[in-house]
Amino acid sequence: MLTSTLLPATITPAATLIDQHGRPLEYVRLAVTDRCNLRCFYCMPEQGIQYMPKNELLSYEEMLRLVGLLAGLGVRKVRLTGGEPFVRRDLVPFMERLAALPGIDDLSLTTNGVLTAPHVPALARMGVKAVNLSLDTLDRERFFQITRRDELPRVMETFHALLEAGIQVKINAVVMDGRNIEDLVPLATLSRDLPVDVRFIEEMPFNGGSHVATPASLPWHHGRIRQHLENHFGALAPVATEAGATASEYRIAGHRGTVGIIAAYSRTFCGTCNRLRLTAEGGIKTCLYDQGVLDVRALLRGGASDADVVEALANAFRYRAANGFEAESQRPLHQLNFESMATIGG
Ligand code: 5AD
Ligand code: SF4
Repeated sequence: MLTSTLLPATITPAATLIDQHGRPLEYVRLAVTDRCNLRCFYCMPEQGIQYMPKNELLSYEEMLRLVGLLAGLGVRKVRLTGGEPFVRRDLVPFMERLAALPGIDDLSLTTNGVLTAPHVPALARMGVKAVNLSLDTLDRERFFQITRRDELPRVMETFHALLEAGIQVKINAVVMDGRNIEDLVPLATLSRDLPVDVRFIEEMPFNGGSHVATPASLPWHHGRIRQHLENHFGALAPVATEAGATASEYRIAGHRGTVGIIAAYSRTFCGTCNRLRLTAEGGIKTCLYDQGVLDVRALLRGGASDADVVEALANAFRYRAANGFEAESQRPLHQLNFESMATIGG
């Protein structure tokens, strides 16, 4: 249950499930749709997208049941992703019900910000404390080139609405060679006067993205991103992050906010990974890089009891791969490039 005040949650968390590598299950990411109103080139092709029929997505009722059972396994944090969560109808009432689930004390979402501004007051009311805003450039022309839509003004409206509502904003910027390198410094500069966390994400060679064989050959790996920022801002001072965080966080001298670097392709953070993912297809992933380890939609729709679903989830989590490299190597054909963030949810 979320509290809009500063009181701590009164619910005692359920016994935490620990995987075979000693990592706890605390967090679930739900891809509520595979649809999106942008067409970021690294995520989706411009045309010919096969969206899933709506009845293949989990219904809100099914997701509430799933999250309720996960809360019993110790999950206390839920993030909605997509696609773009706000293209799914009636998202806000669904979020209100999620926020009220016993045991869930942290509800957030990742959005591209195009449709979000009008919903910001509702997010604040239900106790959402932080929103991740995907934003790769502050330049309108480059925004159009990257997303194939001229929507930067509405995204910036969302950005300011969130700040005014007192919701913490984390900006997610994918770092793309030849596309937005000139944006890294302007984006990081947002943290000078505003209390935002600007995070730079290594580009992953998923659907529509570049084809990079190994993390070592990634043109903008995390070390180079850090060096690029330090060349401009001076030393980045590491700051502590919460357990299970994927970003390495830094403070720039004199800045109000922080900057972060997410080594999404180098996978430096797997040792503390505390999450499960529900894909838009109703599959469970225990790693961003696995091919899906449990068809939870088939279970839910096949009449499985709560106990059966819990057991299947617990087993999937217990026996997961040690890290993203192992998970990738266990995929049939080891292929990543047919997958899209629009179904995985980042
Ligand atoms: N590499 C890195 N990040 C990506 N995202 C989407 N596709 C990729 C990719 N190929 C990011 C989005 C969003 C988050 C959910 O995932 O920009 O911030
Ligand atoms: Fe949409 Fe996000 Fe994919 Fe861009 S990266 S097309 S905003 S789902």
